Amino acid sequence: MTMHAVDLIRKTRGGQELTPDEIAFLAQGAAIDAIPEEQLAAWLMAAFLQGLSLAEVDALTTAMKFSGEVFDPSPLGKFAVDKHSTGGVGDKTSFLVAPIAAAAGLVVPMISGRALGHTGGTLDKLESIPGYRTQLSLVEMEQVLAKVGVSIVGQTENLVPADRVLYMLRDRTSTVDSPFLIAPSIMSKKLAAGLNGLVLDVKTGSGAFMQRKEDALFLAALMVETGERSGTRTAALLTNMNQPLGRFAGNWIEIAEALDLLAGKRNPLNEDLRELSLILAGWMIFLGGVATSAKAGRHRAEEILQSGAALKIFTEMVETQGGDTSSFAAPEKFHQPGATKELRADRSGYLAQVDCTQVGWAVQRLGAGRARSEDPVSAHAGLEMHIKLGGKVQAGELLCTLFADRDEQFAEPETLLRDALVIGDEPLPDDPLIQEIITAENRKQYLEAANHP
Ligand code: URA
Repeated sequence: MTMHAVDLIRKTRGGQELTPDEIAFLAQGAAIDAIPEEQLAAWLMAAFLQGLSLAEVDALTTAMKFSGEVFDPSPLGKFAVDKHSTGGVGDKTSFLVAPIAAAAGLVVPMISGRALGHTGGTLDKLESIPGYRTQLSLVEMEQVLAKVGVSIVGQTENLVPADRVLYMLRDRTSTVDSPFLIAPSIMSKKLAAGLNGLVLDVKTGSGAFMQRKEDALFLAALMVETGERSGTRTAALLTNMNQPLGRFAGNWIEIAEALDLLAGKRNPLNEDLRELSLILAGWMIFLGGVATSAKAGRHRAEEILQSGAALKIFTEMVETQGGDTSSFAAPEKFHQPGATKELRADRSGYLAQVDCTQVGWAVQRLGAGRARSEDPVSAHAGLEMHIKLGGKVQAGELLCTLFADRDEQFAEPETLLRDALVIGDEPLPDDPLIQEIITAENRKQYLEAANHP
């Protein structure tokens, strides 16, 4: 029977469930430009307002995944695993977890994104390494994976074309922030890499897109459900994004921080980054069948990190993808910002609160992110934090150092940071790094707890 978009809009608007074929008609229609934008936008708004059933989310994910080319890692003969984060500030865990998982004998086809809003982008960080190529074809990615075990690249033109259209329409119609639309958008792109396992790092707290814990939990459970339905072993960790992860936020300075940790250099200000990376890598190793539990996986991840094997693999990946690694031995020397500014505490006390989204905007406006998609980013702009939440500070002590290309770029970020970093009188109660773990086994309880259709 011929389908008409107008009928499907009416069904979803009225709260009726679409069949997988009807969902596929919409996703394919978006990819090949066969359905007018106004009809797609109207359907997105109906789905935003009514929500979708689990079967519809699954069907939308699958149809979007197959709307373009997909990667098949099976010729590599190893378990293919990836980690995806929902976006954070100072989050450079990918540069640690991907080579650790590869060193454990897994392959990691990691298709990453650029800076989005107040959050940083893995590709922008990697492109601060002179020569590093993020735009590889799937054939080239397979060659890097066969040689090194890990390849971090950008999305190809023809990978999940349906998401390109639907995401653009969601952005223009204020329908981005629905878990029923975010889950298919993220999962279709991850599953198009042919993954056997996926670990999701779903952020919650002041720097997360989903700031309320119950929203983040529902999104995490929905993504675990979608992954498991498609045969990919999936786990999600709900993690704390109430402050930047580690010491640095920016582009090259984040690579430099990751290189320090890969080389075994530790600092109390980035123990959170090291610990989260080991836990995430532990889950990848466990899902990949190399360890009998996530805890045993974390132990294996630490052994790999300490052995230097992950640094060797990361360096080899960068070189294979054209990057110049001559600065890797002394990464701090390659950090050459045009201008530097210090921000000092105006009173004594404890760092009581960080508006981490505002910190992210400050980093973006220092030049590390973009205001418009065509803007260039600065390799050396960013921020160094000298204190973590709960830390004690004296009036006049250094809170953070700002890096930019030019002095005149400091005014707005400085104001944002002064408001974002709140000094109080009391030390803080502990705020756990890992807030919740959602797995195939317990996902139903989180889906049922949510007050959603
Ligand atoms: N990232 C995505 O890829 N899609 C969304 O919908 C939100 C964040």
